[in-house]
Amino acid sequence: MFNNRIKIKELLAQEPAGQQVTVMGWVRTFRNNQFIALNDGSTNNNLQVVLELGKFPEELLKRITTSASLRAQGVVEPSLGKGQKMDLKATTIEILGDSDAEKYPLQPKKHSLEFLREKAHLRFRTNTFGAIFRVRHALAFAVHQFFNQKGFIYLHTPIITASDAEGAGEMFKVTTLPMDGTAPKNEEGAVNYKEDFFGRATNLTVSGQLEGELGATAFGEIYTFGPTFRAENSNTARHLAEFWMIEPEMAFCDLEDNMNLAEEFIKYIIGYAMQHNAEDLQFLDQRLAEEEKQLPQDKRSEMGLLDKLKFVVDNQFERITYTAAIDILRESNYNKKKKFQYEITGWGMDLQSEHERYLVEKHFKKPVILSNYPAGIKAFYMRQNEDGKTVAAMDILAPGIGEIVGGSQREERMDRLTTRMKEMNIPEEELWWYLDTRRFGTVPHAGFGLGFERMVQFVTGMNNIRDVIAFPRTPGSAEF
Ligand code: 4AD
Ligand code: MG
Repeated sequence: MFNNRIKIKELLAQEPAGQQVTVMGWVRTFRNNQFIALNDGSTNNNLQVVLELGKFPEELLKRITTSASLRAQGVVEPSLGKGQKMDLKATTIEILGDSDAEKYPLQPKKHSLEFLREKAHLRFRTNTFGAIFRVRHALAFAVHQFFNQKGFIYLHTPIITASDAEGAGEMFKVTTLPMDGTAPKNEEGAVNYKEDFFGRATNLTVSGQLEGELGATAFGEIYTFGPTFRAENSNTARHLAEFWMIEPEMAFCDLEDNMNLAEEFIKYIIGYAMQHNAEDLQFLDQRLAEEEKQLPQDKRSEMGLLDKLKFVVDNQFERITYTAAIDILRESNYNKKKKFQYEITGWGMDLQSEHERYLVEKHFKKPVILSNYPAGIKAFYMRQNEDGKTVAAMDILAPGIGEIVGGSQREERMDRLTTRMKEMNIPEEELWWYLDTRRFGTVPHAGFGLGFERMVQFVTGMNNIRDVIAFPRTPGSAEF
């Protein structure tokens, strides 16, 4: 048996008492031909492996270089040195994989996040990314735990679809037709997708919601958690072309129930990470504090990362309507002093990220749930309110991020829905399978989508969304 190792995280939680163990990992540093700082990815803390001088051959010592992998066996004893409670006194060291020190791209100094982004493999071995990806894992696990405890069914909605769920048209095409102009044409001279692989035009999904509604109106409550794709050319710190979204969908549910669930859900997964990843979050809290020291006073966050997370978990989100938000923005000093890049033109306008951030960061200083948006700026499936102008939509805005959740109560009344679809030129024939949910036992229902990477950004305090996903896809970039 090869894998008789104990993980370093587990070992460090024990008391050193002469136990015999085997560990495996990658060398972080090797000092004085005696002290290896070994890391195996289970924690940012290294295990100090001590080699007795003169006991190991010179050839072996030479191969203990940064990022070399090895297996160490020995006895665990209280450490004589400062900074760690235990040492592993090595009896055997076996190099598993050499790492050429001359060619190794990372130096012991601090590297910029941009530089590390180009080293897909090795960035995982840094403390910052170690902490981020363990927290990301915990959040993903907490998502499943939350919904499982509530009896939701995890529904796997398709990645390849023929529908544009959001009606925004920002989709990646999926086709096997040739791109060199020889694709079959129809009578109008356009590409004939009837001859394509699926016998129709298809794309990568922008949202699993429409399929999710079919699940909710049979199982009662479902959620999806999968990759979604948007071909929007937004080169910002909050947009990815491929991101993960969690979309719960609930039958017998109105807008307020939806908001309650979303708030409870966000608090739950943050609380889970605070409980299970305290060390990593402490590390990220300090990292952010260091980073913010470089900023001018007025650009720094008012709260540290851990304080912010605790504040969000312990306090109610602010809930206001879109109409009230427009009034606040219009009356703000920011607006009067023309500090917004996009002017507040009045009711009906779509909010830009700077407006959302003003509301959460400057005005309310806490997460805000905005509801009842003008129908004109929202998707076709949202429930029409009695005022004839707004729809039962809600967005959750988070400090430092802006929009983190988008959701709504759905239009369950067939006539209202199809009228809206006609107005928006959405062909009924293509969505017959969706409209069936309104034909056979329609119910009030609602749901929302949480952008997982934006959530991970919020919890880790990372400024750029590219630093919270393992292999970011953004305009002009799909390396690795
Ligand atoms: O607001 P959106 O477009 O809503 C939907 O897709 C609905 N179908 C959700 C639902 O009701 N089931 O997207 C939901 C969330 C946003 O609030 C944002 O957090 C995230 O997805 N998001 C992105 N995250 C990263 N990169 C992008 N390009 C994103 N676009 C949306
Ligand atoms: Mg949205």
